[in-house]
Amino acid sequence: RLVGTAGAAGAAGLLAGGASGAVAAEALRDEAPTPLTSIGANGVPFHGRHQAGITTPLQAAGHFAAFDLAPGAGRAQAAALLKRWSDTARELSEGRAAADATGSARDAGPAGLTVTFGFGRTFFDRTGLADRRPAGLEPLPAFSADALDARRSDGDLWLQIGADDALVAFGALRTLQRRAGDAAVLRWQMSGFNRTPGATDRPRSARNLMGQVDGTNNPKPEDPDFAGHVFVPASGGTPASGAVAGGGSAEWLAGGSYAVFRRIRMLLDTWDHVSLERQERVIGRRKSDGAPLSGGEETTPVDMNKQLPDGSLAIPGDAHVRVAAPESNGGATMLRRSFSYHDGYLDTRDGPVPDAGLLFVAWQADPLKGFVPVQRKLDRGDGLSRFLRHESSGLFAVPGGAAAGEYVGQRLLE
Ligand code: HEM
Repeated sequence: RLVGTAGAAGAAGLLAGGASGAVAAEALRDEAPTPLTSIGANGVPFHGRHQAGITTPLQAAGHFAAFDLAPGAGRAQAAALLKRWSDTARELSEGRAAADATGSARDAGPAGLTVTFGFGRTFFDRTGLADRRPAGLEPLPAFSADALDARRSDGDLWLQIGADDALVAFGALRTLQRRAGDAAVLRWQMSGFNRTPGATDRPRSARNLMGQVDGTNNPKPEDPDFAGHVFVPASGGTPASGAVAGGGSAEWLAGGSYAVFRRIRMLLDTWDHVSLERQERVIGRRKSDGAPLSGGEETTPVDMNKQLPDGSLAIPGDAHVRVAAPESNGGATMLRRSFSYHDGYLDTRDGPVPDAGLLFVAWQADPLKGFVPVQRKLDRGDGLSRFLRHESSGLFAVPGGAAAGEYVGQRLLE
């Protein structure tokens, strides 16, 4: 029988929570553990070589939040915060209730919860660690299609939260935010979603809000060069990954990664008026099943040279999959792991339009060999770009996973 631990083990955590926590703990101790389904009981280990939430299958609900260190907070406060946040993430991902939780996740299990922590460029100045800032955190170049809101971009610290139960994801966000205490102030926060695991007959690639099958040609963990593309190597990495600008070492980032975060609004009212045939040519894949327009099924390799009977290319010259593919960009490769978002409607001169799109997240060992060259190319004119607006942006160095007894970022901050 699968049971939630919030009633039993959670009570132990609550008892450590001080006087008011103890009262709540008494109440919880009397509760029988909640029976769970396999989705609710699924726990993703917090400890490991890499942080959870990078190769973890996409969860149904996600939150992204950036914090700035509070005025006067420096390295010591940052270290204490990362320790506090790591303890919280471990506790919650084991399905234990937080002592100070509002209670939204009370009768749920871990539900695949992951929390992933990253450091923005400014974090290193604020903590006096500029000499250990990795070279890969050089600011992203400006792109012509950018319409970025600075207030919803960047940040000293970044959190990615995912869970298969929206109440669990919210509970984690709320608890982590409260436990930032006096050390850090929320800068921006965004929420997203994906298909619920188990909702289809078999695991399928996600669909985005334009209706396309999305994620097909992502690198796969079983690919021989996967780790090299996604994770910063232990030593001898490219200058941008494991080194600091000017020559030193950012060895603390070994086993980590770089996350590029972009809030990309989709111009859905425009998109919905485009014919199915044109929509498919914009991407280079069929909308129904994600198969390439060069033939086959979803997983069939794209044949970029395939010609139609009239001599034109089956995958048009400006098709998104042609322009974004590694072979068009000197091998540039990233792992895309995004969430859709819908925040109601925006009032525009043309009337209300959906404030909806993709909270795009790309993971790579080196942004200069992943996101940057590909977005440069897309920006010069892929068919999809004219239906998109990049509204916020962040680049974060994501440390490797914490070993047992360690907190995330300890190798940098201790
Ligand atoms: C592929 C949609 C933004 C890079 C795809 C595919 C779709 C898609 C439907 C084909 C299926 C797949 O292989 O996943 C979108 C949408 C976007 C977006 C709706 C914005 C809202 C971006 C951005 C980048 C990017 C900003 C990187 C800068 C890629 C790459 C591929 C891809 C590398 C795989 C190409 C291949 O090797 O076949 N995208 N994309 N996409 N996209 Fe995007």
